[in-house]
Amino acid sequence: MRLFVALEIPSGVREKLATLVGELRAVDSRPKWVRDDNLHVTLKFIGEMREERLDAVRDALATVRLPAPISLQFHGLGFFPNEKRPRVFWAAMGASPNLPQLAKDIENALEKIGVPREQREFSAHLTLARFNDARLSKELDAAIQARSGRDFGSYTTSEFHLYQSKLKRSGAEYTRLLSFPFFTETGA
Ligand code: 2AM
Repeated sequence: MRLFVALEIPSGVREKLATLVGELRAVDSRPKWVRDDNLHVTLKFIGEMREERLDAVRDALATVRLPAPISLQFHGLGFFPNEKRPRVFWAAMGASPNLPQLAKDIENALEKIGVPREQREFSAHLTLARFNDARLSKELDAAIQARSGRDFGSYTTSEFHLYQSKLKRSGAEYTRLLSFPFFTETGA
């Protein structure tokens, strides 16, 4: 099974991002726009793993604890690696400093059970489209520029989730398998 760890976004943020995606898709349908219900903030891509190892993944992720919830503010748009040769179009976020800490703790916990470390440094983003071979058209570039100051809302969270990704002909289908509270008032 193909697995990844991510933060879910609340419906208010999702709706605002979905509105943006809808507007931009109408300008250019060639990039692969992420479906509304697939929008998430990836913390760690695990990749293929045998189902028998799911218990070990669960036990490893259940050890992750932070001393405070994470707050996120969604604002700003950008491209990986850059807008000249875009591969990924994303929404940026301002986050409390414990977001990279959470990603690091998840990385460390999973490394202990043999999941390879991510080589690239964690860079908080929320993928809105993948370009594959598509180029950034002038029209889409202008439409993105015109919306670059938009605010997509904010939230505070104290849990992350393990997702399964099924690659289907109609696109990726993500299923939330397990949830992990990383902060509780009682410290339990
Ligand atoms: P993204 O958030 O940057 O788009 C499920 O595929 C999630 O895992 C995607 O949201 C994707 O990241 C992330 N991911 C990271 N590395 C990946 C890889 N090598 N292949 C597929 N997805 C990957």
